[in-house]
Amino acid sequence: MKRKYLTALTTVIFAAGLLRADALAQRGVGGPRRGDAQFATDRDTFHFLLANGDKIRRDVKNLPGGVETITESDDPEVAGKIQEHVAAMYLRVEKPSPIRMRDPLFAEIFRNADKIDMKVQDTAKGIKATETSKDPYVVKLIQEHAKVVSLFVKHGFDEAHKSHAIPKKQP
Ligand code: HEM
Repeated sequence: MKRKYLTALTTVIFAAGLLRADALAQRGVGGPRRGDAQFATDRDTFHFLLANGDKIRRDVKNLPGGVETITESDDPEVAGKIQEHVAAMYLRVEKPSPIRMRDPLFAEIFRNADKIDMKVQDTAKGIKATETSKDPYVVKLIQEHAKVVSLFVKHGFDEAHKSHAIPKKQP
C-alpha cells in the first residue's frame, strides 16, 4: 500500500517537473526549445553577429507601411552570416517558429507574424529586407524591431540581454 502511494507520488512529482520544464521552454528559458532542432544553429549565427557588430553597417528607412533595411559588411564571413541569419529568421516568421519569447517585443512580433510581409534579397555584401504590414499597429512593431536590430549591431551582447518594450497601440 505504502509502495503504491510512493509510486503515485513519484509520478505526480515527475509530471509536475515536465510541466514546469515545458512552461519555461515556452518562455524561452533554459536554452533551446524542445522540438526546435534549428535553434542551436540560429543561436550560433546571431551570437557571431553580436560579436562582430563593429564590422556591420545598417541603413534603416521607415516606409509608410513598414521598413526597408540594408545590412552589410565588407568582411565576407560576416556578410555571409547576415544572409544566413536573415534567411533563417524569414522562415521563423513564415512558419511561425518563435524565438526570444522572453523579450516582449519579439514575442509580440511572433504573435503577429501572419500580418508581416517580409521580402529579403541578398546584396553583394549582405541583405536588403523589406518588411511591411497592412495593420498600422504591426507597422509600428516592424519599425520598432528594426530599431532594436540596429541596437544589437551597436551594443552587441549588452543589448541582447535587455528586454524591449512593445509600442503603444494608440499614438
Ligand atoms: C548583430 C546582431 C544581429 C543582426 C546584424 C541582425 C540582423 C537582422 C536583419 C537584417 C533582420 C531583417 C529585418 C531587419 O532588417 O530589420 C533580422 C531579423 C530578425 N532577427 Fe536579427 N540580427 C541580429 C541579432 C538578432 C538576435 C540576437 C535575435 C534573437 C535572439 C534576432 C532575431 C531576429 C528575428 C526574430 C528576426 C525576424 C523578425 C522580423 O524581422 O520581424 N536577431 N535580423
